[in-house]
Amino acid sequence: DFEGRVLVVANRLPMTIKPKDDGEFEYSISSGGLVAGMKGLAKVVDFKWFGWPGIDIHRNDKDKVRLHLADNFNAVPIFLSKDLAEKHYNGFSNSILWPLLHRMPEKAGLETDWSKAYQEVNEIFADNILPHAEDSDMIWVHDYHLLLLPGILRDRLKKKKNLKIGFFLHTPFPTEDYFTILPFREEICKSLLLCDVVGFHTNQYAKDFLDSARIVLPGVARSPVDLHWAGQRVLVHDFPLGIESDEWREKLETETAQTELASIQQQFKGQKILLGVDRLDYIKGIPQKLLAFDRFLTEHPEWVGKVVLIQLAIPTRADVDAYRVLREEVEQLVGRVNGRHATFKYTPVHYLYRSIKPELLSALYAAADVCVISSVRDGLNLVSYEFAACQEKKKGVLMMSNYVGAMRTLPTSSMVVFNPWDTPRFAERINQALNMGEEEREKRYKEIMKVVDTWTSAKWGKNFLETMMKGEIPKNVGM
Ligand code: UDP
Ligand code: G6P
Repeated sequence: DFEGRVLVVANRLPMTIKPKDDGEFEYSISSGGLVAGMKGLAKVVDFKWFGWPGIDIHRNDKDKVRLHLADNFNAVPIFLSKDLAEKHYNGFSNSILWPLLHRMPEKAGLETDWSKAYQEVNEIFADNILPHAEDSDMIWVHDYHLLLLPGILRDRLKKKKNLKIGFFLHTPFPTEDYFTILPFREEICKSLLLCDVVGFHTNQYAKDFLDSARIVLPGVARSPVDLHWAGQRVLVHDFPLGIESDEWREKLETETAQTELASIQQQFKGQKILLGVDRLDYIKGIPQKLLAFDRFLTEHPEWVGKVVLIQLAIPTRADVDAYRVLREEVEQLVGRVNGRHATFKYTPVHYLYRSIKPELLSALYAAADVCVISSVRDGLNLVSYEFAACQEKKKGVLMMSNYVGAMRTLPTSSMVVFNPWDTPRFAERINQALNMGEEEREKRYKEIMKVVDTWTSAKWGKNFLETMMKGEIPKNVGM
């Protein structure tokens, strides 16, 4: 239904490339919410995906990789030298922007020459996109690695007719006191305001962006619906992402998933399962979760032996110092909690540091009695949606930290809400979740699924593109 073609630009390509011993390459699905969310968009429209392949590829192999990506994934790799990628990805993006966007400046690294590399990589992305751009195209840029790209593209593609540029941020947007710490704050605001549409997961993030833009730039109007910048109209709005819930239900029905489910149920017979599924990121509040579980077992010895916490920690950004430190901390805590409460027959925390296949994940979601989302900041959190989608039979409880985007999209009264920093109350909330009766769980499950089934990722993509194309926000979008 869309005139013109859609070009999606994100730092991460949907597949991660690994060299094999025989000189060939292995392609596997990339982790995280951005890649998961874009799957829905693929249902609505064909698009070309531009992104960094994640590793430095020898010049003799570049054509081979380029061809494979074009033929199999309609993707265009943007190659970066190892040094430049290191400074852009591990450096500026993940050691400066990520912690500041999540209001955790104490996790930031010390900037050296990262900001120059960031600018350079944004320019290189533009260089690579330019030859592909035509009149009437819609270029949709994603996430914090590419904040300067919309501005560069707007400038370099001036001559194109009816070309649209959109930007979506997959993280929170901080309040101005954090934003104004950032290098390039003016350039970032200018770049985003040169888009036709700028989208966020929640209304609050959109407001916080506009407040920051007004502080760093003169002449930004108060009204978000009628915002003009540099003589051009820009729409700033919330477009909460979602999941393809049907696909999760189908995945769960596969033989692989059912076999996994049966084996998990057998393994944990007579025990309740608390589940955590997080990239091993300091925003996810994994230490807080472990401390609360520890406290819960201490305060409620009647549950010792009768409940386990399965924590999947998905490897991520392992070359960044703050992530290494976190891994040490989490693994020490797992040891401490297990040391304190384990018996020869009982291991309270089952900790897995790895990625798992979607079928196994659906089985884990279905087997769990409670899913614990304990992030201290989180853009949206798709894990909460995925858990709900796999709970048709069990109707388990969703525990949700106050600081998560999904708190604004899912019905608050249908979740067990808590503050991850308040360990004693968090522990009591675990007790409440484990003791909740069937009728109450069923009611809550239905309320949550109304949102999850309606606000899918396909709808998200369609709404965003429609807004770009028509210059107005479709009815009922956002909060
Ligand atoms: N996920 C993954 N690999 C795994 C397990 C899960 O990529 O081994 C997916 C999960 O299904 C979900 C995404 O990672 O779609 C996490 O998204 P979320 O929005 O919860 O957090 P993010 O990682 O983007 O911060
Ligand atoms: C979050 C970010 C994404 C990122 C993902 C995985 O969802 O918003 O942009 O792709 O985490 O992180 P990675 O650093 O592996 O791309």
